[in-house]
Amino acid sequence: MITFKHEPFMDFSTEENKEAFKSGLELVESYLGKDYPLVIGGEKITTEEKIVSVNPAQKDQVVGRVSKANRELAQQAMDSALTALESWKKVKPEIRADVLFKAAAIIRRRKHEFSALLVKEAGKPWNEADADTAEGIDFLEYYGRQMLELKDGKKVESRPGEYNRYDYIPLGVGVIISPWNFAFAIMAGTTVAAIVSGNTVLLKPASTTPVVAAKFVEVMEEAGLPKGVLNYIPGSGSEVGDFLVDHPKTRFISFTGSREVGTRIYERAAVVNEGQIWLKRVIAEMGGKDTIVVDKEADLELAAQSIVQSAFGFSGQKCSACSRAVIVEDVYDEVLNRAVELTKELTIGDPADQNNFMGPVNDQNAFDKIMKYIELGKDEGELMTGGEGDDSKGYFIKPTIFAGLDPKARLMQEEIFGPVVAFSKAKDFTEALEIANNTEYGLTGAVITNNRMNMEIAREEFHVGNLYFNRGCTGAIVGYQPFGGFNMSGTDSKAGGPDYLLLHMQAKTTSEML
Ligand code: SER
Repeated sequence: MITFKHEPFMDFSTEENKEAFKSGLELVESYLGKDYPLVIGGEKITTEEKIVSVNPAQKDQVVGRVSKANRELAQQAMDSALTALESWKKVKPEIRADVLFKAAAIIRRRKHEFSALLVKEAGKPWNEADADTAEGIDFLEYYGRQMLELKDGKKVESRPGEYNRYDYIPLGVGVIISPWNFAFAIMAGTTVAAIVSGNTVLLKPASTTPVVAAKFVEVMEEAGLPKGVLNYIPGSGSEVGDFLVDHPKTRFISFTGSREVGTRIYERAAVVNEGQIWLKRVIAEMGGKDTIVVDKEADLELAAQSIVQSAFGFSGQKCSACSRAVIVEDVYDEVLNRAVELTKELTIGDPADQNNFMGPVNDQNAFDKIMKYIELGKDEGELMTGGEGDDSKGYFIKPTIFAGLDPKARLMQEEIFGPVVAFSKAKDFTEALEIANNTEYGLTGAVITNNRMNMEIAREEFHVGNLYFNRGCTGAIVGYQPFGGFNMSGTDSKAGGPDYLLLHMQAKTTSEML
């Protein structure tokens, strides 16, 4: 087995790679608007009612029309998953891992097609789409290897005359509710972690990005996954989501998305319903209000670049995105002015055009919410650049910087999930860290400093799940920077890390007298 190494990102400066990506776009364009069925127990089911997935950069372009599950179909999917569980949980972990390795190989071959689909369906610029696909491949390769490490359990001691073992067994049927912002990587990662651990799943992808999930389900079937192990059931949260979260046969829920929905799932999952004989497990990865702190002894160009990249990459629609820059007063003006300059250079438009750094935001809801925050920002701070949106063709919002925010301002506290970053001044490094820690979240953060002592203070005091030094705060790599947050950011599941699969399993102790 080759050691895990993350999937390299494409270099789009070469003609060859540009052409390859364009072929991916052409391929995807050739099948835009198609219908996709549900997949329940391996059976393709077409419903009258559809979820229509549109290109957020071009609202009148339909990416695909996906069948929509209701409660009855969700129940059918649950029955299939329960049946498949009986055999899948007994399949050797090595074979389960092989399905993931095979799927990774298939996706690697079709890499540009998947990325191009993310351009069209999720509005990702080329490099962001490529990183999303690469991360999905990484999850497949990494979790497959993790399962091989865990397959014989862990070591426990035995006294003379006894033989003790400590093994991990699957949990049962899991409900996977995945987000639109990493429509491939997180959707695939959360699904395959559950599957390789021996569980069967019901996948309810985000309603704005169901087509890429449908393509992934096809790949898993091609890779040899038995029927009923992965059931694909797009549907509405209030109908299908709640029904499955409440279902007495649901053993665990793996959710990535907003804090509002995550909290709701956590509460509902805590209720023991009629016929339920376990406490459900919830893995919830939610929001962030992520800060880059800039010290006075720091590379200020690096600071400005890191803020701009982390704030505006994929239009700020990452839970890891920088939405607050907290800068020590001695260097505040310089970093702010440089960040404004860099932001003004950013290009925005259809992400299918390689020259655009930023594409649209996800949908009308996202657009309206972000624009409201921009209005609020004008009251709470000083608008330095951006501040405008245009939803006539697609959902475009200019990268926006507000300065002079009070650390307690709403713009500094609430997750916006868009291309808006708020700057706040701190009198010294200690105060900067206090501000960095003053939200209810704790997902990512970065510190730009050349002061080793301050770095060590931040290592201890900056309370986030993923802390970065002298770089931006987005772009965690599977197997290198396990990802997950503290406080209201979620259950700190650390996706892409060595403990992740354990969240999908239960440990069993056996002790034999010899
Ligand atoms: N893993 C992504 C990042 O680090 C966020 O989901 O940016």
